[in-house]
This record gives sequence, C-alpha cells and structure tokens, in this order.
Amino acid sequence: MADPLATLQQQHLQALERHYVETLAALGYDGVLIYSGRPALHFGDDQYASFCSYGHFQHWTGQAGLAHSWLLIRPGRRPVCYLHAPDDFWHLPAQLPDEAWTERLEVIPGRYDEAPPIAAGGRLAVVGDVSAATSAALGAELNPAALLTALDEGRVRKSDYEVACLGEANRMAGLGHRAAREAFLAGGSELDVHLAYLQASRQRESELPYGNIVGSGAHAAVLHYQHYDTQAPRERYSLLVDAGHRHRGYCADITRTWAGADAEPLFGDLVAGMHDIKQRLVEAVAPGVDFVELHERMHCLLGELLVASGLVTGSAETAVESGITRAFCPHGLGHLLGIQVHDVAGRRASDGTALPPPAQHPALRLTRELEAGMAVTIEPGLYVIPMLLEPLTSGPAGRHLNRASIERLAPHGGIRIEDNVVVTANSARNLTADIE
Ligand code: GLY
Ligand code: MN
Ligand code: MN
Repeated sequence: MADPLATLQQQHLQALERHYVETLAALGYDGVLIYSGRPALHFGDDQYASFCSYGHFQHWTGQAGLAHSWLLIRPGRRPVCYLHAPDDFWHLPAQLPDEAWTERLEVIPGRYDEAPPIAAGGRLAVVGDVSAATSAALGAELNPAALLTALDEGRVRKSDYEVACLGEANRMAGLGHRAAREAFLAGGSELDVHLAYLQASRQRESELPYGNIVGSGAHAAVLHYQHYDTQAPRERYSLLVDAGHRHRGYCADITRTWAGADAEPLFGDLVAGMHDIKQRLVEAVAPGVDFVELHERMHCLLGELLVASGLVTGSAETAVESGITRAFCPHGLGHLLGIQVHDVAGRRASDGTALPPPAQHPALRLTRELEAGMAVTIEPGLYVIPMLLEPLTSGPAGRHLNRASIERLAPHGGIRIEDNVVVTANSARNLTADIE
C-alpha cells in the first residue's frame, strides 16, 4: 500500500533537513553521523534484551526496531541511511517500509556492525551509543553536548506529520484500553487484561513504548507497577491501566482507572472527580501557559476533591500548603511526549538554559512554558501510598487526614487519568478519544 502520510512525511523531512543544516552551520560541523544503537546481550548468555533505536535516528526514519544502522547528514548532500541488512539465514534481514523517507534518503544496505566507511574531510560529530574507539577511528567528536541540546530542541515542537503519528498511536491505544476494560469487567486477572490490551491494540510486548502498567486493587497505588498477577483477585475493587502504542516511532501514553464490582461508592466518586480534573486541566492547555503553574493548579483541584470527598478536613488551601496533596500525588502533572514517552528537553528553555523542577515537585518532568506544536500528557492522579501518608499523620497535617476514609480507600490503590494533548496556535487538541 502506498504511504498514506507521504506528503506530511516529506514536509517533516524537509523541515528536519533545514534544522540540521542550520544547527550544524551554527556549531561549525560539516556533518553528523547518527547511530541507531544495538540490543544488549545478557551477561554470560546468547540472548538479547529488547531494543529501541536512538531517538534522533527515529526522528528521520520512525524505525524503533532497526539496530546497527546509521544516518549521515551533511549540509548540501542527500542524507544517507546505512541500513544494516546482512545476508542471514538465522534472521529475516531488515525490510524497508513503504514510506516516503525511504525515497528521500539514499539507502545503502549492507553489514554495519562497525561504523560505515565515511570519506574523511571536515569536522564530523557522531551521536548515539558509540564507543570512544569507534568515534576516534572516524575522527569524529562523540556526543558533543551543544549539538545534542540543539538536536533535542528540534524535537520539541511537533510537525503535522508527527502529530498525525501521535494521533494514530492514540487511536490504537484506545482500542487496547476498551478491550482492557472489558477483560476486567469480565473478571480477568492483570495478565488477562494485559493480553487483551496487546491483542486489541495489535502489538507485541517488546514493541510497547513502555511496559504496560496494569494494577488491580492496591497495586494501582504503585506508580510504575511492573508485574501481572495471573490469578484474578477475589475482591474486585479497581483497575488502573497505563498503556500506550507506538506508531512510526511516536508514542501514546494513556491511563484509565475503573471501579470494580466491590468498589466503595467513594472510589467511584473519586474516579468521576479525577476525570473532571483532567478535563479542566486539558482545557487550560494553551501556548504561553507555564506548565509548573498548571501542575500547581492540579494540586489546588486535588485539594478541593480531597476535601469534598471527606478524605481530608479543613480547606483545600491547607491541603496544598501542608503537603497533603503531594503525599496523595507524588508525580508530575505530565511531560513532553513524542519519540520517547518522556520526551527530551522538558526541563530546558529553548535557549538551552536548565529549568530544574521546583524543590517541592522534584518528579515534574516538564518545567517549560507551553508552545504551539508541543505534545504533552495531562495525568492527574490520587493514590493511597502508606509510605508517604504515614509521616504526615504524626505532624501538624495529621489532624486533617480522615484515617477511616483513607483506610476504606486503600484497597482500591489509586486513580490516574491520562490524556495526550497537542498545543495548537491558540489552544490545544486532545488526541485521546473518550474512553469510559
Ligand atoms: N506511563 C508513564 C507515564 O505516564 O509517565
Ligand atoms: Mn502513562
Ligand atoms: Mn505519562
């Protein structure tokens, strides 16, 4: 089938070539060689870990699984892809997709366990997981910081092509989430839900942009819970699914939480309240918005929800100022999204200046002002995490915690609702369709 995104991808590559030409000229390089990377071998074994190619390699090709391959970008010359596709009867050699980049770039198939032979001349940089010996043999500078910062910055504002890919990743992930919900309501275990997600979203586990988080009951309070129980729980309190999809390199990152048959009414009310908070925050996304302020707004809304639900007494302001909301939600409101699920340059201004997160919010991965073209996640959460709540109980904030309600909530774990949003010229577009 012909490439349905061909025109958009051509435009994307044109803009990418311009950005590389300008960046290399500004930093005084005659070319850059980009390495896709190689899978790690388990120590003392002949089995490989799963692999994901370097983000800057994917920026040109969208190929997350292409190992040992290289791109050579030189101003005024056609970009070259050295495609690692050796004759091999153990494995199927790499196949090129029917996409516009394969025409625009000069593709030279071969065996590239070592770097391709590059004609000497000029100042060359090499970027990626490359050894110092390889870099020295090439006569190239290895991962120069100023170049990496500039190339990262070139990934922050997404082209129309990239937004289309993010949209398709969201569509496929949405199919997975609907199937996950059905598997949960039908009585499935965490593993059953995970497998239903993979099946409906048409992906194998090693292709996921991150390991699916499928937490039932108290497991939903473990932010990056990494196991899948094979047995369904006896009590069906809740399920949290944080799972994505990758389309031509671009990631979806979506979370939904559902109440089970044994859930307390309080939990159902909190899930509805969290959908409402997510929606209000999505509607606040626009160019010029400071993401740190939006994160702080999430804490104000969480404070209001905690007080309205009776989990916390006193005022919403006190819940924020005393650190109660941070104990219920220790992660950030969201992050940049793209070729990496936690995409690059979230904590740097466009001129490269570091923008560290505020001391009270160390996990916040995005501290920039929003600009048109940025893709971000909006993912408010609320969890019962004993190791964070217990220290509060003995301090001045303790009298505001309704321990009986918190104990009733604890077996449900927690709630996160996460959508993917692209900033437009005046406001924002939500790429994540309604999923109940
Ligand atoms: N799935 C990881 C995150 O939401 O950031
Ligand atoms: Mn997520
Ligand atoms: Mn996320």
